[in-house]
Amino acid sequence: QKGAFSHFMLKEIHEQVESVVNTMRGRINFDDRRVVLGGLRSQLANIRRSRRLIFIACGTSYHSCVATRALFAELTELPVSVELASTFLDEQMPVFRDDCCLYVSQSGETKDTLLALQYCKERGALCLGVTNTVGSTISRETHCGVHINAGPEISVASTKAYTSQFIALTMIALQLSDDNYAKLPRRNEVIDGLFNLSNDIKKTLALEPQLKTLSKEEFGTDKSANLILIGRGFQTATVLEGALKIKEVSYIHAEGINAGELKHGPLALIDEKMPIIMVMPKDRHYSDSENALKQITARYGKPVVICNDDDDSSNFSGLKTIRVPRTVDALQAIINVVPLQILSYFMATDRSFDPDSPRNLAKSVTTA
Ligand code: UD1
Ligand code: F6R
Repeated sequence: QKGAFSHFMLKEIHEQVESVVNTMRGRINFDDRRVVLGGLRSQLANIRRSRRLIFIACGTSYHSCVATRALFAELTELPVSVELASTFLDEQMPVFRDDCCLYVSQSGETKDTLLALQYCKERGALCLGVTNTVGSTISRETHCGVHINAGPEISVASTKAYTSQFIALTMIALQLSDDNYAKLPRRNEVIDGLFNLSNDIKKTLALEPQLKTLSKEEFGTDKSANLILIGRGFQTATVLEGALKIKEVSYIHAEGINAGELKHGPLALIDEKMPIIMVMPKDRHYSDSENALKQITARYGKPVVICNDDDDSSNFSGLKTIRVPRTVDALQAIINVVPLQILSYFMATDRSFDPDSPRNLAKSVTTA
């Protein structure tokens, strides 16, 4: 069932043109810009009344929570925390009856996430699921939720589930804030961005030949066994997720670093030999990213930069760029992760590794 693709991972990366549409199908009316999530209808008032929202997940699913937290907090005006399921359990975090906990899981079977669900249910919290697998344990055990409808994901490395989780979480934030008139312009801007998303992903996928060459030239087997990815704000999740994809399928030690933390330690890693990817779209963090870029180039770092296709600044002279379409700041990370997914795929296949079945990993982690 891989069709024209040599691996499920590449097929699923390409499927994102359709899977993002499937996640929104029947839920967003783009004519009157209304969002209706059938799965949340019965609990909407209770969710809005919660005193805080706690997102709980593992791995890539955790990154989709990191990616959407800021918009969620902005639109709902509720405090939102994002927790790794394992840490949440290790620390036995306090949970109360008026908390609303969201469990994000592609498989719906991840043991740590399930244990955290059980823990919060016992304490009387309202529990929501964001799952890809209808009938999975998390889908059944949560009080309500949203299926992301991305279609089956076969490759161990999660790609299309990530972008669909991102959209599902964004739609939940849009739905929860639809009674707040002051948020209307922001909501409309995000909904319009969602409308164009599939097309933006299609344009980004067209970068594949360039990324294939870049993988060999900049991140080939002759280069360092390390790679650092740097971004901030909405792109913090992108660099964490990009680094996870790269280490998972190409076995290169990759690290995602928040640009705001650079001078607190990681800058010591920068020299002319360290491979670096920098993610800096034209958003409100751009000038901070420009400063970070200067710090890096002053130390002879030569990052490959993921930037917007309409960025005509002179910041990138002498550097290689990956130019992606520009969308709303809060959705840009969906577009920006795509070149990193593709790069990780080629970094694996260039090394003759099978990206669909990375060593030591299972698709569904059913042990704690
Ligand atoms: C539902 C149907 C869909 C149909 C649509 C038409 C299912 C699975 N979905 O989609 O086929 O086209 O109505 O109106 O039959 N849930 C949880 N936890 C989760 C995920 C979901 O409890 O992690 C619950 C929801 O609260 C809801 C049910 O599962 O009660 C279905 O969720 P979802 O598929 O997201 O609902 P709809 O989009 O309305
Ligand atoms: C990475 C990956 C894992 C999963 C994690 C959680 O590509 O797939 O990090 O995201 O094991 O799995 P789910 O989403 O099924 O709970």
